[in-house]
Amino acid sequence: MSLKITVIGTGYLGATHAAAMAELGFEVLGLDVVPEKIAMLERGETPMYEPGLEELLRRHVAGIEGSTGRLRFTTDWAEVGAFGDVHFVCVNTPQKHGEYACDMSYVDSAVASLAPHLRGPALVVGKSTVPVGSADRLAAYLAEHAPAGGDAELAWNPEFLREGFAVQDTLHPDRIVVGVRSERAEKLLREVYAGPVGEGTPFVVTDFPTAELVKTAANSFLATKISFINAMAEVCEAAGGDVAKLAEAIGHDDRIGRKFLRAGIGFGGGCLPKDIRAFMARAGELGADQALTFLREIDSINMRRRGQMVEMTREALGGGSFLGKRVAVLGATFKPDSDDVRDSPALNVAGQIHLQGGQVTVYDPKGMENARKVFPTLGYAGSALEAARSADVVLHLTEWREFRELDPVALGETAAARVILDGRNTLDPELWRRAGWTYRAMGRPKA
Ligand code: UDX
Repeated sequence: MSLKITVIGTGYLGATHAAAMAELGFEVLGLDVVPEKIAMLERGETPMYEPGLEELLRRHVAGIEGSTGRLRFTTDWAEVGAFGDVHFVCVNTPQKHGEYACDMSYVDSAVASLAPHLRGPALVVGKSTVPVGSADRLAAYLAEHAPAGGDAELAWNPEFLREGFAVQDTLHPDRIVVGVRSERAEKLLREVYAGPVGEGTPFVVTDFPTAELVKTAANSFLATKISFINAMAEVCEAAGGDVAKLAEAIGHDDRIGRKFLRAGIGFGGGCLPKDIRAFMARAGELGADQALTFLREIDSINMRRRGQMVEMTREALGGGSFLGKRVAVLGATFKPDSDDVRDSPALNVAGQIHLQGGQVTVYDPKGMENARKVFPTLGYAGSALEAARSADVVLHLTEWREFRELDPVALGETAAARVILDGRNTLDPELWRRAGWTYRAMGRPKA
């Protein structure tokens, strides 16, 4: 008989994981403590924009016409306990307010709510990004609080999905990493991932701390790559070099690689910034803080980029105050193909200019609703063209495809001045210059 799977937490990670498990052929029950989220998912809708996810949900959510009916949702812990052989914990671990450490309260409360309802030899699998040592602690908790004789066990299975590619990354992962303490746990997880692993995906079996660390190490490396190239952009700016060419040239070395070397206003979102901070905080607790002091520098290079973009804008406007200046901002989300504005560099830059008196008008293809919630006092427009109307300068801050495909001639007819600053280094400088624009990008020569 096929395994029955539950997924606890239906945010980016959980909703995608639940839908992907159903796609792989399992019976799946998803739980969330927010009834409104469950109601949406039951209609085949997602609380966030993620390409392909709604289609996948509609293919499997029970009650939707033509669906396989393999995916159901609930808010009832007892139902989850009774249903699942394997329970995936996918709740989020945000940064604690005013601290570097991450907030483990959602993970802790998920495991505490589930434990008394576990029946039979259940496997609880942590997927959330957690400080190393959490799995050990949660395993001890389960041993103490799950019903005696039920043989409940813990495993750790970090998730590497990217927003905007969540479905693709979950169905076709680069690798699967599992931290286990028994052959039974390994066997169960191999069974769960038999589909993707059958296609040749590496399956790495390790202990709890290594599995937890793989995730934070991977995100730290990615953050380091971005901040490295942004540091090179600072040097290029000072020396008159071109960071885009530099990145291309060093990227030809296979040992370095070309990916994640795009200089600009830096990384944001719900993962990289908080994960490197939580990693530093945890290393401090372990007495290994010296090993990660470089991450403090990675973080400050990254945060500095936002201020540098503000200053570049000021300079493009002739220096001095932003008062009375109209600034069009293209992009509000932290990356394209997402409506996520958490720790978004684009929204941060827009907000800084606004707070300094600039008249800012933002347009984003999918992030308007979330941006309005975070920054209701900014101006918002229904299109890039409308945002650019009468603008003294246009800032390109999130690299949506829609912006790469803009017609600089049409935009130039409506803007007050043809000045565009590319904070993501993805527009074609020649195209904009040919249409009469002054094009400037971070870390690249002026003309
Ligand atoms: C990241 C990791 O990539 C993923 O493996 C992990 O599971 C979660 O965290 P995500 O937050 O979705 O995923 O975004 P990612 O694609 O990594 O981009 C992060 C930020 O870096 C974005 O703001 C992006 O614009 C920026 N970035 C990325 C750059 O500034 N330059 C680059 O070259 C690449």
